[in-house]
Amino acid sequence: MAREVRPPTSTRLDSYVDRYAARTQGMTASEIRALFSVASRPEVVSLAGGMPNISGLPLDVVANAISELVRMHGPTAMQYGSGQGDPTLREQICDVMRLEGIDAHPDDVVVTVGSQQAVDLVTRIFCDPGDVVICEAPSYVGALGVFRAYQCDVVHAEMDEHGLVPEALRQAIAAVKAAGRTIKFLYTIPNYHNPAGVSLARGRRAEVLQICRDADLLILEDNPYGLLGFDDEPYRALRADEADGVIYLGSFSKTFAPGFRVGWALAPHAVREKLVLAQESATLCPPSFSQMAVSSYLTSHDWLGQVKQFREMYRERRDAMVDSLSDLMPATARWNVPDGGFYVWVTLPQGVDAKAMLPRAVTARVAYVPGTAFFSDGFGAQSMRLSYCYPTPERIREGVRRLAGVLEAELELRATFGATPEGSHGAVRRGYEGPNTDLS
Ligand SMILES: Cc1ncc(COP(=O)(O)O)c(C=O)c1O
Repeated sequence: MAREVRPPTSTRLDSYVDRYAARTQGMTASEIRALFSVASRPEVVSLAGGMPNISGLPLDVVANAISELVRMHGPTAMQYGSGQGDPTLREQICDVMRLEGIDAHPDDVVVTVGSQQAVDLVTRIFCDPGDVVICEAPSYVGALGVFRAYQCDVVHAEMDEHGLVPEALRQAIAAVKAAGRTIKFLYTIPNYHNPAGVSLARGRRAEVLQICRDADLLILEDNPYGLLGFDDEPYRALRADEADGVIYLGSFSKTFAPGFRVGWALAPHAVREKLVLAQESATLCPPSFSQMAVSSYLTSHDWLGQVKQFREMYRERRDAMVDSLSDLMPATARWNVPDGGFYVWVTLPQGVDAKAMLPRAVTARVAYVPGTAFFSDGFGAQSMRLSYCYPTPERIREGVRRLAGVLEAELELRATFGATPEGSHGAVRRGYEGPNTDLS
């Protein structure tokens, strides 16, 4: 006899709230996640999400590669595999990294479920609660979420239009050490930064490496956008000039497709062993099917030609974004012109709070991510991240037109009623002053 299935009586209150581990308190939905449900409505121009635009992928080529994979290697592709990842793919990953000057051995590569999992595994093996991770200001929201989940204390170091400022890094290291705290690594995105859109200037790279060498500080170099520059030569990776002190993370999410969830970490040998153990306890092994599908795509297709097409498409969208900003935004707003990747970082006129303005923007059918999402300390309210990767150039222009309208209205309100008391948007970033009390 069929049993009646009753819906749970209450889904609103979490009756488990007292039972979660302390680290769970750091796990909150990112501002981007909360936005996705609204921003994905067709009438909204979303300049918020950073989804790669894979509309140009040759689906017939991918379909053939996958069907051949199932026919020829099905039993292997659908079986558990090595915890470190498929050996053939690891060799191909070394070929990919060679494009950025890295000379690596496949033994030192661990395949992960996207580079997001690599951030998680590295944090898992290095960080105890209360350890400090230095991040750029601003930094990638997904990495900040990982650091929070492992109860790390994030200390930001300033960037400018040339990327991480070496002197700011020096000062952050000195301040944290003076406070008697342990820094586990510098997390950095040197190329086509998410969210700041800037790249670490070539002339600064050796200096950043030297500062970290002097401080005996490990670098976690996160580089998912490295091959998506708009100029011909990719930047030389930090890992290319420092094998011992750098863990390098890469991904096929932006150069091929994120749905396969294939990324990797290249680590010094001893660290690599720990990463494999962590990977085995997290997933047993990265998915064989995805790895072999990526591997056969790399073999059977001119994948670098495809990357070149992606770069041209993203460059056209970057142009649409910065041209529209120049044409339409109030003169007091500022932004950078990215030389690759997906993002523009906009600094709003003094006193405008991007987070407070967001509901009005969504009402005007445009979405962005407020800058506060990219800081661990509530800073960034006067900024926003705009993504140009996904919408067409026409939609980008329309989105910026709507955004500029909202901003003009905001400025008019302020002119009429006067400025509201300064919030975090007016705050000046202070130096490191001790552990973040939310985390300790
Ligand atoms: C800087 C950065 N790191 C890591 C990731 C995660 O990418 P994936 O897990 O798809 O490789 C992203 C995705 O947007 C990113 O922007």
